[in-house]
Amino acid sequence: MLDGHLLLGWLSFTIIVYLLSLPGPTTAYFGLTGNEPLSLLPLNSLPEDSVGRAHLKLCDQLKLDKKQRRMCRRDPGMVNILKESVILSALECQHQFRFERWNCTLEGRHRSNILKRGFKETGFLYAISSAGLIHALAKACSASRMERCTCDEAPYLGNREAWQWGGCGDNFKFANKFVKEFLGKRSNKDLRALVDMHNSNVGMKVIKAGLETTCKCHGVSGSCTVRTCWRQLPPFHEIGKQLKQRYETSFKVGSSTNEATGEAEISTGRSQQQQQQQQPLPGSSAQIPRTMDLLHIEDSPSFCKPSKYSPGTAGRKCYKDKNCDAICCGRGHNTQSKEVTGPCQCQVRWCCYVECKQCTQREEVYTCKG
Ligand SMILES: *[C@@H]1O[C@H](CO)[C@@H](O)[C@H](O)[C@H]1NC(C)=O
Repeated sequence: MLDGHLLLGWLSFTIIVYLLSLPGPTTAYFGLTGNEPLSLLPLNSLPEDSVGRAHLKLCDQLKLDKKQRRMCRRDPGMVNILKESVILSALECQHQFRFERWNCTLEGRHRSNILKRGFKETGFLYAISSAGLIHALAKACSASRMERCTCDEAPYLGNREAWQWGGCGDNFKFANKFVKEFLGKRSNKDLRALVDMHNSNVGMKVIKAGLETTCKCHGVSGSCTVRTCWRQLPPFHEIGKQLKQRYETSFKVGSSTNEATGEAEISTGRSQQQQQQQQPLPGSSAQIPRTMDLLHIEDSPSFCKPSKYSPGTAGRKCYKDKNCDAICCGRGHNTQSKEVTGPCQCQVRWCCYVECKQCTQREEVYTCKG
């Protein structure tokens, strides 16, 4: 039996495609970070080249706040980008946390309870959401899917350089500006709101830091007398990986009150070890640390047992000698021998698809005891 499709296995079973409905005066967030239950998100409900007013209706369906809805309606391409960015962030979160006790369950109740707290996981959700939105939008601009933006504009360099900016760069600048406005500022200035916004900014900064200049040579037989260069975003997996690392080294912060303004500020109660490794935060009076660290306010639960934050790890599939001990929380694991059918002996066919056979193999499956 032949199966002639690209292997996007992990994608197909994760097409649990959720989007949040948002609103409420204090939340100007989007992506995985709304407080309302996730509602089912139909993918590709709008044809790319649709003209007319269909997108206006679709923007209304997203239940954005007033400013966000206006921004969504400005460009017919935007509503699809918003939806795609949520999928991008969700899949990447689940990919990065596939070996952890908290596996980025996005089921409404658990997720919204995590968002009410200031855990490391909360910070990751904010960062991956803003990063996903910038990434999706910057790519959409350079792929001509938007009316209001195109390729990255080249910086003015005059004729001093032997090479030129050209090609079509990902439009980080447009995307960054849009997302900053879209996610906006929270009116309420308590510690949680400050930390959420900081983490959201970390997602944007990680994208900015990852911009790469790519060049192509021209000239007689590739002599490279002329080069054209453009800026490109790194693959989103790279962003996810970096944010996951920042999650692991997330800093716990506390609150202090600014004597002058009476507003909450972030104060860092760093451990000695952390202080030796890291530069102290510039300007202790700054409201938000100007660093790329993710921040959290309180310690996370263990995620071992069912709670309001996760379904627990009973029944979770684990990998022997890799993460069974850690994710089963010392309860041990069951071993089952299963027949697993999947694609195998795949070959690339001219041109351009992959052909696979279906094979059945015996496989040991490990799951955490309850
Ligand atoms: C996360 O783990 C739960 C069991 O604890 C499982 O039901 C769920 O499918 C997992 N989610 C993902 C995205 O792997």
